[in-house]
Amino acid sequence: MNVGEALSHGRLLLAGISDTPGRDATLLLSFVLGKPSEFVHLHPEAPVSESLIAEYTSFLERRSAGEPIAYLRGFQEFMGHNFLVDRRVLIPRPETEHVVETALDLLCNMPSPTVGDICCGSGAIGLSLAKRLPGAATVLTDVSREAVDLARENAERLGLSQRVTFLVGDLVAPLIEMGFAGKFDVLATNPPYIPTDEMETLSTTVRDYEPRLALDGGESGLQVIRRVVKEAPPALKPGGFLVMEIGHGQGEACLEMMRETGGWSETRVLRDYAGRQRVVVGRKAGLREV
Ligand SMILES: C[S@@+](CC[C@H](N)C(=O)[O-])C[C@H]1O[C@@H](n2cnc3c(N)ncnc32)[C@H](O)[C@@H]1O
Repeated sequence: MNVGEALSHGRLLLAGISDTPGRDATLLLSFVLGKPSEFVHLHPEAPVSESLIAEYTSFLERRSAGEPIAYLRGFQEFMGHNFLVDRRVLIPRPETEHVVETALDLLCNMPSPTVGDICCGSGAIGLSLAKRLPGAATVLTDVSREAVDLARENAERLGLSQRVTFLVGDLVAPLIEMGFAGKFDVLATNPPYIPTDEMETLSTTVRDYEPRLALDGGESGLQVIRRVVKEAPPALKPGGFLVMEIGHGQGEACLEMMRETGGWSETRVLRDYAGRQRVVVGRKAGLREV
């Protein structure tokens, strides 16, 4: 079989199963071949060995059963870096880059900020920030020890191990317990925010493969978000910022929570490129030290 035939075979097999059969087949074939995806389109006549076809076929079967491409390949690109991912962590989504970009805007004039990523998963947010902010001290936390283990591996691969601290625990609690109260310039987070009653409506690829703990945000999807709004202020410096990913339609509820909780100023909801509510920002009241 040559590359063109293998690609057509994959596309046909995944048609009706994946929304993007051509893209999926291209990514899997190029991964098996160890080549960039353009190779697959530019060299349809190139031969593919039997053993590689067998490997490709097994990936196509797993993809047909619903397994996400990122778990099959073992990595996901985010903010220009490849993050290791597997079933221990959520696959970082492109929308989450808005959280990173927003935090970077807020931190641009601070040479050595202290930055936290709570609910870190693979470490996509916190490690991307650490990479872009060489003077930053960064702390990543997650309640899942398995997720923190993988985030630590990602830090090593990105050459960040010396500058990043990892903690396991419930939301902000480990930060306070480890003496980081009042220390953060920015806390960035992408907490679980899917309403429990929508979990069953998710695609197989998400529902049956990604960790429920990373997705299920309880009633209305706001249970963890509500706790973050309440619990983040003690960890922030006066004038420090919370930058939190939210689901579309959750913006008003988040702003209302911040009003009710008190102690937040400059609260706002930012939209992603699709115009959907994506990030909520709030500033802890009080003057920042200079
Ligand atoms: C939506 S995922 C985000 C992962 C990563 N930050 C990203 O954006 O790709 C949410 C993460 O929150 C973690 N989590 C859920 N409940 C938590 C809690 N109470 N305290 C800390 N982490 C929690 C999950 O283990 C999961 O890794």
